[in-house]
Amino acid sequence: MFVTVEGVEGAGKSTLMDLLARALESRGIPFLRTREPGGCGLGASLRPLLLDVSSTLDSRAELFLFLADRAQHVSETIRPALARGAWVLCDRYADSTIAYQGYGRGMDVERLQALNDYATGGLWPDMTLLLDLPVETGLARARARNGREGLTQSEGRFEAEELAFHQRIRSGFLARAARWPERFCVLNAALSPQMLYKQALKALGLSD
Ligand code: TMP
Repeated sequence: MFVTVEGVEGAGKSTLMDLLARALESRGIPFLRTREPGGCGLGASLRPLLLDVSSTLDSRAELFLFLADRAQHVSETIRPALARGAWVLCDRYADSTIAYQGYGRGMDVERLQALNDYATGGLWPDMTLLLDLPVETGLARARARNGREGLTQSEGRFEAEELAFHQRIRSGFLARAARWPERFCVLNAALSPQMLYKQALKALGLSD
């Protein structure tokens, strides 16, 4: 079972991932928790280039770095885990590229769909949990967290983008969810972490 968690900045993905990882552990389900960018050795080197505020990446170069990370991540980490029967819980994946580089940066969405097909060898998630909330709320949370943890410079490149960029991303995610309703489960990320978790468990068929 390949599960991705997606959403705008500050939607609460990490907290939900922590809770889901614990739920799988307590049920004795083998799983791999990972993320993009940065879920494999190559990605760990690419993450700072992609997220540091001082990076001056051309948007096509940015796109291909995300795709390079994904191609390596799929072949080195995700496919082997799925092949041994583990669940894969991944924080962001191809839908983020289409939302951020496509809807956000204005690149052709159908072309990005095809490039993601190519990078992943056609591997799409079985289930995508989309954490949806107003971008103002998410950005305020994300900026507060990064300030607290000293990550504003090293991880803040996308957060520093204008509000309209983030609004396009939110609409992009929702458009994708409307296009693939059987894969996506849209959750209201303005709810408490515990309520969100309950809804996610239900969507994954893990409720007690
Ligand atoms: P996060 O891991 O804290 O969510 O940060 C990753 C950032 O990278 C986030 O701002 C979204 C952005 N991103 C893209 O723009 N395209 C992608 O394909 C991925 C995976 C992430």
